[in-house]
Amino acid sequence: MKELVKQLVETYGPAGQEGRVRALIEGIIRPYVDASRVDALGNLIALKRGSGGGKRLMIAAHMDEIGVVVTHIDKKGFARFGRVGGVQVQTMVGGRVLFGNGAVGVIGWEKWLQSRGVPAWEELFIDVGATSPDDSPVRVGDVGAFLRPFVDLGKRLVSKAMDDRIGCAVVIQALMEMKESPNDVYFVFTAQEELGTRGAVVSAFGVEPEVGIAVDVTHIGDTPEARPMAVSLGKGPAIKVMDAGMVVNPAVKQWMIDVAEKEGIPYQLEVLEFGGTDARSIQLSKAGVPAGCLSIPCRYVHSPSEMVDYEDVQGAVKLLRKLLESSPSFSS
Ligand code: CO
Ligand code: ZN
Repeated sequence: MKELVKQLVETYGPAGQEGRVRALIEGIIRPYVDASRVDALGNLIALKRGSGGGKRLMIAAHMDEIGVVVTHIDKKGFARFGRVGGVQVQTMVGGRVLFGNGAVGVIGWEKWLQSRGVPAWEELFIDVGATSPDDSPVRVGDVGAFLRPFVDLGKRLVSKAMDDRIGCAVVIQALMEMKESPNDVYFVFTAQEELGTRGAVVSAFGVEPEVGIAVDVTHIGDTPEARPMAVSLGKGPAIKVMDAGMVVNPAVKQWMIDVAEKEGIPYQLEVLEFGGTDARSIQLSKAGVPAGCLSIPCRYVHSPSEMVDYEDVQGAVKLLRKLLESSPSFSS
């Protein structure tokens, strides 16, 4: 599965530019699904029909990653930029970005060596190797993603865009491994989550699920001086209880807990005091949908080096597969 993760995380796909990730996923899942389509926002929606008697499930993982967008190019050819999603300023200086056309830039800071503080956004620029706007390989509106290779530390995996390609990998792996299921399962690889779960909003209306589950990363509390939180790397996938965007439907939460306990899959309960996922938008679609979230604990979320634990990832695959194969007995 590590090769699948590496392929997914190293593919370029900032919010709104999901085409390459979508094409990659489409190719991988084609033999395993009955039908698939791409909607107007660029969500990939694939259906695997069940044997009957189950529910219409929507499983969502977002394809997009955070990035930067060129706002103007100054006289000396330095690209000035804005953010695409929740990029953290303290992760920027000295980093590299890759644009859709293959151009690469280095992020510089006007006050490099002059200040020990944290940069202001307007003091940052991208050096794409140009000397004027005329020889710049990028133009206004071009979008860049962090450039950082996948690293396998054995037990732990590190890359840019673990948020949420690791979720995509978990969903794909569960789809490939799942046995017969009573449920019609819609596997939705969403667009523009990092800009406010926009893809999930419209795809949930398109699918009209009876139950929805998002698969996404969550934060942890196990690094030095971390904001306290009862989620650690290596203690299993997390079952979300609540975040800033939703209270998980209690029956969905209990279904997830029951299946994890029945299958002997270690899990953690997650209360995240900020943030949100596609599950919120599924829950709030149409007249409301019972929704939950399967979270993969992740360190350094929204940095170019997001870290997950491989056993947590494998636990998430197993839990998702067992959920898909089971019959949610509660009424929606
Ligand atoms: Co994110
Ligand atoms: Zn995410």
